[in-house]
Amino acid sequence: MTTDIHGAPAASSEPAGLGVAVVGGGYWGPNLVRNFQASESFELRWMCDLRIERAQRALGRYSTVTATDDYARVLADPQVAAVAIATPAATHRDLALAALRAGKHVLVEKPLAAGYAEGRELVEAAEERGLILMCDHTYCYTPAVTYIRDLIASGELGDLHFLDSVRINLGLVQPDVDVLWDLAPHDLSILDFILPPGMAPLSVAAHGADPIGAGRACVGYLTLNLTGGAIAHFHVNWLSPSKVRTTMIGGSKRTLLWDDLNPTQRIAVFDRGVDLTPPAQLSEQTRREMQISYRSGDMVAPALAEREALRTMVEAFATAINTGTPPPTDGRAGLRVVDILESASRSLELDGAPVALQGTKGTSS
Ligand SMILES: NC(=O)c1ccc[n+]([C@@H]2O[C@H](COP(=O)([O-])OP(=O)(O)OC[C@H]3O[C@@H](n4cnc5c(N)ncnc54)[C@H](O)[C@@H]3O)[C@@H](O)[C@H]2O)c1
Repeated sequence: MTTDIHGAPAASSEPAGLGVAVVGGGYWGPNLVRNFQASESFELRWMCDLRIERAQRALGRYSTVTATDDYARVLADPQVAAVAIATPAATHRDLALAALRAGKHVLVEKPLAAGYAEGRELVEAAEERGLILMCDHTYCYTPAVTYIRDLIASGELGDLHFLDSVRINLGLVQPDVDVLWDLAPHDLSILDFILPPGMAPLSVAAHGADPIGAGRACVGYLTLNLTGGAIAHFHVNWLSPSKVRTTMIGGSKRTLLWDDLNPTQRIAVFDRGVDLTPPAQLSEQTRREMQISYRSGDMVAPALAEREALRTMVEAFATAINTGTPPPTDGRAGLRVVDILESASRSLELDGAPVALQGTKGTSS
């Protein structure tokens, strides 16, 4: 792309793709820049950061894309069809709302917003205008998570009984959010993505600790009750000296173990478990006569493609804009995750008492 003498991107007669701007050139924004630039569906026109040197650095020395610290100029560009926001969560609502009001499609980094009411405002603003609002729930675009969702949908695991997830490492202690808001969006968005229709979280109980005196929870545990009696548990931790990324999903037929740090065998599906054969009449006495049997069948490790999730996510954003259909992780999916996070924060204040979710599942656009 060329720039005019005022530093604005010059209008080209034939746009190379959907004009897009990235806002926020800190840790994550440069990954969006790289993937939008690699995509033939988009033409990156602006990189915006309040600290212009970050915008310039995200683009690199030889880029002809325009760096700016003036968001209004980005929104005023009629060739910008979409804006991708990679700034801290507290700024998501204002930046996304301004873009939607300017008629732009919006991609927002996780979490969608800093609270449920703000998130709902964004969902409504997008729906009123017929614009795409997408949340970058990156993991949902990995081959592993897509495989897990398809396996559950096919009935291979049977009825879901439990999900147990660990996401711990020596993490950056964030200045603005606790470990639940920083790391749990990944796991909660995965849960939202893989659950079959008709199954949803109902309530959340959260426990947290701040053993280093950071002023916010650095270690967190979430327990979610799901419809049908299933349970999901998440452990997130910034203080773990070793990195662990595992999720176990137990079903009535099979159990799946996903170890994201094991590229040669990310997923293993075990035909192993416990079966219970109750007598025809279940009373306190016959309960003792129940037959417990242990299955110890095969373990299958499927071959998974290795593909950068952000690349797939960026293409899903383009498809949503071009077809006018909601992307897999639309604003409502983002809102369901924020619903759980906000309820978890309330539960933390209540010393871990379960808090019912405001409930948005089933109203997906
Ligand atoms: N999808 C993922 O896997 C993933 C990974 C990391 C972070 N994130 C998300 O990305 C977002 C950004 O996180 P980060 O770690 O890059 O933060 P960061 O603090 O490193 O960078 C944020 C940048 O935004 C800029 N900024 C702040 N307010 C702005 C405004 N009003 N206009 C323009 N620029 C502004 C800051 O100057 C900074 O450069 C967060 O929502 C975070 O949760 C997502």
